[in-house]
Amino acid sequence: MRQAGRYLPEYREVRSRVTFEELCRSPELCAEVTLQPIDRFGLDAAILFSDILVVFDAIGVPVAFNPAPKVASPVRTASEVDGLRWGRAADHLDYVYQAVRACKRALAGRVPLIGFCGAPMTTASYMIEGGGSREFEHTKAMAFTEPALFGRMLERITTLLVEYLAGQVAAGADALQIFESWGAAFAPDDYRIHVLPHLRRLVDECKPLGVPIILFVRGNASLLAQAAELDADVVGVDWSIGMADAIEVVGPRRVVQGNLDPLTLLGPPELVTAKAEAIVAAGRRARAHIFNLGHGISRHTDPAMVQHLVDVVHGA
Ligand code: CP3
Repeated sequence: MRQAGRYLPEYREVRSRVTFEELCRSPELCAEVTLQPIDRFGLDAAILFSDILVVFDAIGVPVAFNPAPKVASPVRTASEVDGLRWGRAADHLDYVYQAVRACKRALAGRVPLIGFCGAPMTTASYMIEGGGSREFEHTKAMAFTEPALFGRMLERITTLLVEYLAGQVAAGADALQIFESWGAAFAPDDYRIHVLPHLRRLVDECKPLGVPIILFVRGNASLLAQAAELDADVVGVDWSIGMADAIEVVGPRRVVQGNLDPLTLLGPPELVTAKAEAIVAAGRRARAHIFNLGHGISRHTDPAMVQHLVDVVHGA
């Protein structure tokens, strides 16, 4: 969950030389920043350095990072959707597969490498809104007024994402994480109608790739229950629900991942210790538990506090 990034001085050093876009397109530099938190903290898995929005490259949608992503020409109408470069789109993402290979070489078996993508709706929302959003009004307007067009767009994105994840696994990714960061944009019933079928297909079509699939759905307990209906190996839990309650929702037979509020790391070490230990204790009621933050790490985090957290979890 954003292991690398602007809170690390060694990442900022790399970023002082190249833009974020250049970094994502440079396999050797991706490997370097992917390994930074592994070398520094002794984490148990690495997550590929990239972004969920690089797939826009494949279909010909320019995106700028400042650092918040911005899509200058949003995609909202039938002609805008149908005019994108959908055919064999994942072939254009070879630089990501090269980055996976570079990471695997650099890791040399030390820890597994997690590849990833955005979930279909989260990915589409950045294209439809033109960037991040609070209300997701264009996305929801499209789903409610032109459900067939919205469905076609998500269907095509899902096909692209399946090919993209298959490419990451072929290049050596040991596990896959799917990020549904904005699921809570939709009311639960609407999510089930307009969004869940595509997410289900993504998970189902990635199962034969033979690597564990982690499905992170940020939002609410109702969405967590829908996520648990799918066939992912691990359900990622955000910090807005207690881990014990989350396990009640997904059931004791699921593997869970999560879920410390990343801003806890801005508090004192005793607080971090107490919160982390409580999450580890709650996680023991699940079939298995992968400790993680409950969302992306803040740029204001002191790396020493991350080290403290890793030590607490390893000692628990
Ligand atoms: O270790 C890692 O950092 C893993 C790589 C990673 C990034 N983004 C790098 C990144 C991963 C897994 C992501 C996923 C991602 N990107 C998600 C899903 C997870 C989540 O956070 O909900 C989403 C929604 C995005 C889209 C995105 N990319 C946003 C909203 C931003 C702006 C973030 C900010 O801090 O303002 C980005 C840019 C981005 N992606 C950065 C990084 C390290 C910051 C860019 C910089 O270096 O300036």
